[in-house]
Amino acid sequence: MTESLNRRDLLKQALVTGAGIAAANALTPMPAVAENITAATAPDAAPPRAAFAKSMKGVPFARHEVVRLAVVGTGLRGRGQISEFLAIEGVRIVAVADTVPEKAARAVKMCTDAGQPAPAVYTNGERDFERLVERDDIDYVYTATPWEWHVPVLLAALRAGKHCGAECPIGTTLKDLWELVDASEKAQRHCQQLENCNYGYNEMLVNRLVHDGVLGEVLYGSAAYLHDLREILFENRDEGLWRRGWHTRMNGNLYPTHGLGPVAGYMDLNRGDRMTYMVSMSTPERGLTLHREATVTDRNDPKWQERYVTGDLNSSLIMTAKGRNILLQHDVSNPRPYSRLNGVQGTKGVFEDYPARIYVDGQAGGERFTGIDEWKKTHEHPLWTRVGELARTKGGHGGMDFILAYRLIETMREGLVPDIDVYDSASWSAPMPLSQMSVARGSAPMRFPDFTRGNWSA
Ligand SMILES: NC(=O)c1ccc[n+]([C@@H]2O[C@H](COP(=O)([O-])OP(=O)(O)OC[C@H]3O[C@@H](n4cnc5c(N)ncnc54)[C@H](O)[C@@H]3O)[C@@H](O)[C@H]2O)c1
Repeated sequence: MTESLNRRDLLKQALVTGAGIAAANALTPMPAVAENITAATAPDAAPPRAAFAKSMKGVPFARHEVVRLAVVGTGLRGRGQISEFLAIEGVRIVAVADTVPEKAARAVKMCTDAGQPAPAVYTNGERDFERLVERDDIDYVYTATPWEWHVPVLLAALRAGKHCGAECPIGTTLKDLWELVDASEKAQRHCQQLENCNYGYNEMLVNRLVHDGVLGEVLYGSAAYLHDLREILFENRDEGLWRRGWHTRMNGNLYPTHGLGPVAGYMDLNRGDRMTYMVSMSTPERGLTLHREATVTDRNDPKWQERYVTGDLNSSLIMTAKGRNILLQHDVSNPRPYSRLNGVQGTKGVFEDYPARIYVDGQAGGERFTGIDEWKKTHEHPLWTRVGELARTKGGHGGMDFILAYRLIETMREGLVPDIDVYDSASWSAPMPLSQMSVARGSAPMRFPDFTRGNWSA
């Protein structure tokens, strides 16, 4: 596809692709493609802020003696995080919602086994969370539903005056991301991407190295989600029921935030710099088709009706206002060891992960990487020093799931400004639609919206 493609061609193509997708898709059809192409006409143009809305930057939580949580989506991840929250003082799970009563019941049992009163249960269909958010005993709504439900749950929570947070991505179209920003500003309630990877041991250590100047001026970062999910995507349960569907809908980076969140922290994005545009390209799709051929032996299985359109490896380059660059990749369809890349290059040195290694200019032993053990003595993050042992015992993703939960509760109990605000959340998810738009236009540069509306340099 050429860059000179005009908007009408793009819309036509979007409708054709959309119709093809809807016909071929055995899972839920989505309007994502058409919405993103519409936004492509002026993706960086901020809609005017409503007169009554105010920025959520730097706004602290009110102090909460006990944080009363509601959890929407009690599948694998929702229950995993409930287990982390239950290990933290000053938390009550007051309500849970799931479309599958048995999954909600398992969450309830976890709470009562931990000595808490049984949470109220909302299992009356896909929109029962709308009743849940109206309760007046909820401080924070956390959602771990499939991606297509994050935005409806978050908007309902904000409109009911509740703080809220979602798993990744927080929204899948630019239109939705703007809606979340506007709803958060209007409600004066926080809306967060609860990005566990920002709380990983290495990520927090590297963040301190960077801010201590050990690596010099940061020039370049690398971020990714490279995880062989083929088996999970084809299971007849859990994520296999919905996640593979996204591979029939869009060609781009489906999961940008695990890699990008930490690098955004190294670069202080939205706090002195911001992502301005990105270009993206995808390889052909092979992995899911080959996996289906190898494992789905029954040709009458509805999976054989699906056509996968997500290129196996998607690579994007992001430019920032200060001229720094980020490589962002996604591949969940090929055999490979797990990696989020998690790299940062500065004028005095470089850190790369998987495995963790560092080189600082003039380092003893010459121009070769060493491990990071020495740096742990001086730069381990205080949160890990304080509660790292408990985090490791809990174990979720090496402990970072606990640190994320602990820090959320700490910021709410102590009345602090949250680490992650709605502007971070929206901009980390934006590469999902932007990569799709860039790929569809022959890797044309796509401008990032400035979700802060000009308030990113402080
Ligand atoms: N941060 C991480 O490390 C991490 C790890 C795994 C998954 N995730 C994310 O967590 C989310 C959930 O993933 P999962 O692995 O738990 O999937 P899952 O399929 O196991 O759980 C999703 C749950 O949501 C329920 N659900 C679906 N629609 C609903 C609705 N309208 N209202 C209420 N409940 C609804 C389902 O019945 C299911 O129990 C996804 O966004 C995923 O990307 C994040």
